[in-house]
Amino acid sequence: MTKKMIVANWKMLPNSLAEAEGILEFVDQNLEGLMVENPLFSIVFCPPFIFLEDVGRIIKNSNLSKIASLGAQDISSGEGGAWTGEVSGPMLRRLGVEYVIVGHSERRLKLGESNALVDQKIKVALDNQIEPIVCLGETTRNDGYKDFLIDQITRTFEGLTADEIGKCILCYEPVWAISTNLNAHPDTPESAVESIRFIKQFLFENLFLYGGSVNSTNVASFLSQEEINGVLVGAASVNKGEFVKILQRVAQL
Ligand code: PGA
Repeated sequence: MTKKMIVANWKMLPNSLAEAEGILEFVDQNLEGLMVENPLFSIVFCPPFIFLEDVGRIIKNSNLSKIASLGAQDISSGEGGAWTGEVSGPMLRRLGVEYVIVGHSERRLKLGESNALVDQKIKVALDNQIEPIVCLGETTRNDGYKDFLIDQITRTFEGLTADEIGKCILCYEPVWAISTNLNAHPDTPESAVESIRFIKQFLFENLFLYGGSVNSTNVASFLSQEEINGVLVGAASVNKGEFVKILQRVAQL
């Protein structure tokens, strides 16, 4: 079995550095039994920008360094300079960021990020040797959802070479499945795999993650699917007890 990737998308949480440290310390203390010497999984912690440096330092100086790396939740499409409020690719790279989530539906829907902007961000990430984790997924599951996905894929990857697209990690994350959305419920593993197979026809042999209401109860059912190489975990990743339970389930796969 290939190593599974667990991406912890902390979103705009936790509220303090002390809490962020608490999550990492708790995970570090509970690594025993998770086979970190020969792990079946890797973790990418994606904290808010202000905690990146501290989270990176904590990972480096603890046993987490055996399995965890640092990810950002966004990257500027600009190269630097006159981009108020933005954080550039070179800045992230210097902090040791190895992955970046791009095109998350919360940025697309709440901040109006277009497919064209996501496309630009993918390019900037790749130019800075940061692996983009590109989120794709329909807002509602209706008869036209596959057309929506085709349009999103076409515009998100427009102008990228096959080599560039091949370097992206893709995450199928239907918006209706994200735990904080109204009436959210996880997709079923079978239906997630159907969508992933559909998306794959237009792309390459990319690594594929599933995201949307992943927790310790359902993580094994997603990760036991051959087509699903990892999960993007939101709410459950800032709940330290639940997150450790997720890792324990993954270690038993
Ligand atoms: P969730 O969020 O796990 O809370 O559904 C996932 C995400 O939005 O990345």
